[in-house]
Amino acid sequence: MANLADHKTDVAPTATLTPALGLEGVVVAETQLSMVDGLAGRLEIAGHSVQELASSMATEEVADLLWRVGSGAHHPAIRAQLGAARVTAHRNVRHLGDALGQPDAMDALRASIAHVAAEADEQRTAVALTASVAVFAAHASWKRRGLKLVEPDPALSHAEDYLRMLRGAPARPEEALALQRYWATVVDHGMNASTFAARVVASTASDLVSAITAALGALKGPLHGGAPGPVLEMLNAIADPERARAWLEASLARGERIMGMGHRVYRVRDPRAEVLEGAVKSLFPLSGSSSAAPLLGEKLELARRVEQEAAQLLSVRHPDRPLSANVEFYTAVLLDALGIAAEDFTPTFAAGRVIGWCAHVMEQRRTGRLIRPTSTYRRPQQGQA
Ligand code: COA
Repeated sequence: MANLADHKTDVAPTATLTPALGLEGVVVAETQLSMVDGLAGRLEIAGHSVQELASSMATEEVADLLWRVGSGAHHPAIRAQLGAARVTAHRNVRHLGDALGQPDAMDALRASIAHVAAEADEQRTAVALTASVAVFAAHASWKRRGLKLVEPDPALSHAEDYLRMLRGAPARPEEALALQRYWATVVDHGMNASTFAARVVASTASDLVSAITAALGALKGPLHGGAPGPVLEMLNAIADPERARAWLEASLARGERIMGMGHRVYRVRDPRAEVLEGAVKSLFPLSGSSSAAPLLGEKLELARRVEQEAAQLLSVRHPDRPLSANVEFYTAVLLDALGIAAEDFTPTFAAGRVIGWCAHVMEQRRTGRLIRPTSTYRRPQQGQA
């Protein structure tokens, strides 16, 4: 019989252990996929700075890069594979039952992605999932509005086709490029909550579809990927830069968190915020056209002023805990400028992050171990249980 004292897990009494709530600073994996330096404000993805990735790589190339790191396999024909997989995903919509009709966009996406068949070939499943997230997110959006679904065009790039499907009109090259830059900034980001969720599921030897379904559930939360919608609401409610301070003060006085501010890892401004500001500026020439939001320059000015005021107010409240803008702040401005509805912001985030999740699942399979932490048991008081 095993000697309990030999075990370091919770078969031994753990009441004396201090729980690492939030797992802050706990290293749970070794990865080659990305590194977040929260003090220097630096993000490196598979050997490239986020700035480099966002300025020079198409989404298809980023997927090839990350999946090669995750699995060792190269995908030279990935653009065509993703195009074909979008068509297949579109055909599969008829098998989804009521999944796409759920009122919440992330509920619809999670329920529909759960229907994707996990193939033995995990590379093919990764392509199918990446295509399906884009197609189902777009379809769910049309379904919510009671309109007809837009068919994918396999000849287009993933970003062009996503914007086309979501908005029902072709994307201009600048818009597709801006979306690619956005997806490059969010494709992978260390051991964030949704990536960890995916790796936990993968570590049980479960399938890739289950892992991605779990990740979608984690991403939905407003403390993770659900923040950009509320950021846009906040910017729209403030509307005038001169009202920013009073609005933020009132919100903080009510005990609310300022959405788009603060980060578990960054102690300086999130480097992705600057990349996204650049992507917003790249749309200035389109400002006032049908698809780009009018007066984009003014919107960006408003966002900057709100960020500045929020950072100042938060530094007074939390002098020891720097709270700066995170990726979601300018995501809201950019996706709004691309004509994407606020309820589709988090599904659009998922359409980029799914590439990173798949890479992590592949890496977990190669290098990981069953993830099974422990907990400190506190016996309930009499009458409490
Ligand atoms: N607005 C106001 N106060 C904030 C804040 C925000 N955005 N972010 C953190 N704080 C406060 C907390 O209330 C806490 O105060 P307390 O010590 O008086 O209780 C303190 O700062 C430390 O925060 P903590 O909860 O320990 O930070 P965390 O690492 O757990 O949280 C986030 C990180 C991202 C969840 C948090 O900053 C947040 O909720 N931000 C808003 C949501 C958001 O933008 N999410 C997207 C993340 S990419």
